[in-house]
Amino acid sequence: ADRDALPRDLEGRRVVVSAGGTREPLDPVRYLGNRSSGRQGYALARVAAHRGAEVTLVAAHTADLVTPAGVRLVRVGTAEEMRSAMLAEADGADAVVMAAAVADFRPTALVEHKIKKGERDPEPLELTRNPDILAELVEAREAGKLDASLIVGFAAETGDPRTTVLDHGRAKLARKGCDLLVVNAVGDGRAFEVDDNAGWLLAADGTENPIPYGAKSRLASTLWDAVGRRLGRQ
Ligand code: CTP
Ligand code: CA
Repeated sequence: ADRDALPRDLEGRRVVVSAGGTREPLDPVRYLGNRSSGRQGYALARVAAHRGAEVTLVAAHTADLVTPAGVRLVRVGTAEEMRSAMLAEADGADAVVMAAAVADFRPTALVEHKIKKGERDPEPLELTRNPDILAELVEAREAGKLDASLIVGFAAETGDPRTTVLDHGRAKLARKGCDLLVVNAVGDGRAFEVDDNAGWLLAADGTENPIPYGAKSRLASTLWDAVGRRLGRQ
């Protein structure tokens, strides 16, 4: 797309986007991670910058991606590091978008030395729940400790015989308490490590809009359209 053709509707706005997958160390050479490439978060950051926003991108592990021009990059490793970075960066933001794949659990203990194979089967790995950053951002705002106009979550969901992707999304929106939730339908190789997304954009006010298949940059535009509209109304 011609850069000059993009609306500059985010001029004067400050947005914070998280991207990539956190890595939770087990010992000095091993970690628990996930397949997130960070492409959706980077597309969000790039499009927001093109539309005039001041953008901070908090990135965990990603594929080898180019930092978009004009975007401030903050690198993190673990969920805990992302939590600290997000709580600090989100204050005063017009929009905060959690596009990162945050590991739900981390190894309970960080083993100081490389674990040796030994002679027998290993002990089971003990895991601890990570903080829910999105939920904490919402809580901090409710407690008056964080000033952020819009808090946006992402959810990758598969349908199952009892619950559709949309119903999983509605339940997650309610549980997280965020203002907007982008629900991606995954499965059949969709969304992870591919260039396309499809799903719904759900809002806390009950608005539900389908998001057609398209490039991640298109989904980014769709989300910033919704964010821009909402900020304009506030
Ligand atoms: N998220 C977060 N902190 C976590 C886990 C998730 O901030 N510890 C954010 C993600 O960045 C995303 C949203 O919450 O914006 C939804 O993530 P998802 O993994 O779909 O939700 P969970 O609550 O972890 O539920 P589950 O994985 O069990 O479906
Ligand atoms: Ca999760």
